[in-house]
Amino acid sequence: MIKLNNITKVYRTKTIETTALNDIDLHVPKGEFLSIMGPSGCGKSTLLNIIGLLDEPSGGTIRVDGQEVIKYASKATAKFRNEKLGFIFQSFHLIPDLNVIDNVELPLLYRNVSRKDRKEMAAIALESVGLANRKSHFPSQLSGGQKQRVAIARAIVGNPAIILADEPTGNLDSVMGDEVMEILTKLNKEEGTTIVMVTHDERMAKKTDRLIRLYDGSQVA
Ligand SMILES: Nc1ncnc2c1ncn2[C@@H]1O[C@H](COP(=O)(O)OP(=O)(O)O)[C@@H](O)[C@H]1O
Ligand SMILES: [Mg+2]
Repeated sequence: MIKLNNITKVYRTKTIETTALNDIDLHVPKGEFLSIMGPSGCGKSTLLNIIGLLDEPSGGTIRVDGQEVIKYASKATAKFRNEKLGFIFQSFHLIPDLNVIDNVELPLLYRNVSRKDRKEMAAIALESVGLANRKSHFPSQLSGGQKQRVAIARAIVGNPAIILADEPTGNLDSVMGDEVMEILTKLNKEEGTTIVMVTHDERMAKKTDRLIRLYDGSQVA
C-alpha cells in the first residue's frame, strides 16, 4: 500500500542544514496498523507528512497504492491525496467557526458530492464515532476526546484507503485516548483501513500490528 525507498529529507536554511530523515526504507502492506515511535525531533512528523504527500522528500521514491508520486504540487496529486488519505492530528485541526457536521463534510467539498449526500455521509461518519447527537455543536463546546472523534469522522468521511495519524492521543487523558484507539482499531479491523500512527505512548503502540522506531532521522528498530 505504501512503499518508501531511500527516503531522505533535508531542511536547508541560509545558515543550517537539518537532516530530518536519513535513507528510510519502509513498506506498509494493505490493512496494516503501523505505529512509529521515537524522541521529539527524530523525524516522525516529517515521515508522516512525506507518506501523506504533504511534503516532498529531498531524495528517494515513494509509491502509494501502486502509484509512484512525482509531482507534488499538481492537481492530480491533490485529488489523489483527497481521495486516498485521511489525516488526524494531535491538536485536532478543526475549524472553530464551523459546526461539527460542517467540519466533517469538508473533505467532500473538493469532490463532486451533492450537498444532500455530503450531509448524509458526514452523518454516517459521525455516527460511527458515536457523535450522532453533536452535529450542531461547535468545536469549543466539545471535550478533547469528542474533538478528536470529530477529526476522525472528518478523516474517514470519504472512505480513504489510508489513515495517517500524528500523535492522535497526545492531547487526551488515558480514558479518551483509549476511546480514540478503539475507534482506530475498529476501523482497521472492520474496514481494512491501513493506518500509520505516530505515538509517544508505548501502551498505544502495543495495540498496533507493528512498531518501528526512529532516532535522529534513521530507523533503528
Ligand atoms: N520546516 C522545517 N524547517 C527546518 N527544520 C525542520 C522543519 N520541520 C522539521 N524540521 C526539523 O526536522 C527534524 C524532525 O522534525 P519532526 O519531523 O517534526 O520531528 P518529530 O515529529 O519526531 O518530533 C527536527 O530536527 C526539526 O527541527
Ligand atoms: Mg511531530
